Amino acid sequence: MPGRLEGKVALITGAARGIGKGHAEIFAEEGASVVVSDVLVEQGEEVAAQLREQGHNAVFQKLDVSSEADWAAAVEAATANFGKLTTLVNNAAIFNNSGVDELLLDDWNKVIAVNLTGVFLGMKAVLPELEKSGNGAIVNISSLYAIIATDGFAAYHASKSGVRMLSKATALRYTRRGVRVNTILPGNVVTPAASTLTEEENAAILKLVPMGVRGQPSDVAYGSLYLASDEARYVTGSELVIDGGWSLP
Ligand SMILES: NC(=O)c1ccc[n+]([C@@H]2O[C@H](COP(=O)([O-])OP(=O)(O)OC[C@H]3O[C@@H](n4cnc5c(N)ncnc54)[C@H](O)[C@@H]3O)[C@@H](O)[C@H]2O)c1
Repeated sequence: MPGRLEGKVALITGAARGIGKGHAEIFAEEGASVVVSDVLVEQGEEVAAQLREQGHNAVFQKLDVSSEADWAAAVEAATANFGKLTTLVNNAAIFNNSGVDELLLDDWNKVIAVNLTGVFLGMKAVLPELEKSGNGAIVNISSLYAIIATDGFAAYHASKSGVRMLSKATALRYTRRGVRVNTILPGNVVTPAASTLTEEENAAILKLVPMGVRGQPSDVAYGSLYLASDEARYVTGSELVIDGGWSLP
């Protein structure tokens, strides 16, 4: 049986670990050729090598999402290796838990550069190729923190809610140009980033999650799989919350 992403060529950012790596694995299993990209070169190379060992098409490309030149090189790598580019998952992000009064301007700028400007640069860089493919899809990984507030994470909240409207505006602009743009809002997912929290911090978050368990990278990637596949051909500008019910109460 053909995979759900057979014939697709997907560029995934922040794919050396965590949720991005989960995407690379599931997208490759479903038949996509995958450009694994990250600033972590060694780990990213390993992910791509592992996928190739399993018989999938995968290459690694170093890509700092805040660099326009890196984006141009990544699009070039995709088309040079696989002949086209159909799919982008904007997953890379950085975290900062400071509240507005304690946040330094430099740290604000860093978070916005990666989490929001990175998504803008990425969409801008890939859209010509996606449009050319006639059947392109972009999935932007935002966060539950785009719709609920905490008293910290000021820059992160702002960047992730910016991604929501940037996605919708781009979705609307490309409705008749063969590219769909959708957003995923994950809740609490087990990744290297989340493992920087203390046991107490994780336990406090878990108390807020009605299902009482943390999500896995694959829980997010399966949502993206649907949105990136042709099964979602009538879906654009939508938002999929994957949070174990955290946003319900
Ligand atoms: N883990 C969670 O609980 C959670 C919750 C909500 C949303 N998210 C979102 O999911 C996505 C993945 O998060 P994660 O938990 O897997 O994080 P992670 O830190 O484990 O992985 C993020 C990856 O992005 C890469 N990266 C960082 N800066 C980069 C840059 N400038 N250019 C390219 N790559 C860069 C990192 O090297 C890393 O490999 C992020 O967008 C995050 O905001 C995560």
